[in-house]
Amino acid sequence: MADKGSWALAITVCAAVFLLVRADSITEAPAGQLFVYELHREVFQSEFEPFHKLYGHIYNDPMVFKCNKERFPDLPRWLRFTQRDPYENGFLYGTPLPQDQGRNIIEIFVINKRSYETFRERLVINVGPAVKQMPYQAEFLIERREIEKVLPATVQEDIRSDIQNLWGTSRLEFVNITSALDRGGRVPLPLPGYFEGVYVKLGSDRPFSKCMLRLETAAHQRECESGGKITGDCSTCKIPSNCISWCRSALFDLSKPVPPAPVPTLGSGVLEWAGEFSPPESPPDRDFFPDYLVTIIVPLALVALLCLILAYIMCCRREGVVKRNAKTPDLQLYHHHTIQGNASELRRMAGDDRRTVDRPRQCLQPLLMAEQAMAES
Ligand SMILES: *[C@@H]1O[C@H](CO)[C@@H](O)[C@H](O)[C@H]1NC(C)=O
Repeated sequence: MADKGSWALAITVCAAVFLLVRADSITEAPAGQLFVYELHREVFQSEFEPFHKLYGHIYNDPMVFKCNKERFPDLPRWLRFTQRDPYENGFLYGTPLPQDQGRNIIEIFVINKRSYETFRERLVINVGPAVKQMPYQAEFLIERREIEKVLPATVQEDIRSDIQNLWGTSRLEFVNITSALDRGGRVPLPLPGYFEGVYVKLGSDRPFSKCMLRLETAAHQRECESGGKITGDCSTCKIPSNCISWCRSALFDLSKPVPPAPVPTLGSGVLEWAGEFSPPESPPDRDFFPDYLVTIIVPLALVALLCLILAYIMCCRREGVVKRNAKTPDLQLYHHHTIQGNASELRRMAGDDRRTVDRPRQCLQPLLMAEQAMAES
């Protein structure tokens, strides 16, 4: 009985774990071709508030995504992430190169900016070998677009069909999509009608059309530099914001083998004799006397002058006691002296050495003398 119970428990736990743990999303990305993975906000919304659906609440929470390679602080070199604002979907995009082949495990942290709940998901990107040879590649600038507006699959299809008309083939693949900001472009003013600009690179195994080859002529470059009327533009666009700018388009013909760089010539390894070493001349003498005058002598002279002035004021301009007494009337001087004398006498009497003090004179004198006489008799 106990055995049966524990088995049931184990099975329940397994089932619960299986239901709770979502399997990693797995995608494939062939090398040399654009990879785009859209992070849909509404998918994660149901992860945050699954029970609210029952009550008819539909939330539209702001969400931000943090993406990094598992156990690394950043994304792999070839992969970039962009999200315009928390109310828009995020995009992981990039072009893996043949040397990036292998398994990339990307951790995606979703932060709900309303409830501050977080949710973690893993995305496995298997980068495989290149499946298509695209020796002919062309890059175009779409001026009136932002990177997030170009990455959705429908927009990519629109752009591709425009380029198909230009190239004359339907065998086209996206090779790279880059914001012009990543290529040294300027951040546009935050006003309608100003855009960052997006570079799209497409590749094909079909050679360029005749019209595209005009991009490589000297006449085309002259026209673009002069900034005058552009004659050779044969691009079309169904939607105005998808129009390419003809002067900022470029062709890359990878079908011709690239000549290898010239091998550096090896020398004997010993430097040639170049004569005696003659040390450079010592620099010309400098006269430091003016500097000395300005920094030492002038301040010293000033100090001496100030000392002299101060000494004159202190020693020669003083009035002195003799002079002052000569100026004061005699009566006032006498008055002053008696006050001074009395004060010092009182002070002496208040001290310990009472005996040494002179006897008080003036009014007390006759009384004391009488006292003395009485004592003697
Ligand atoms: C794609 O564009 C980015 C930015 O310009 C660049 O760093 C990267 O090397 C490009 N990838 C390929 C495969 O051309």
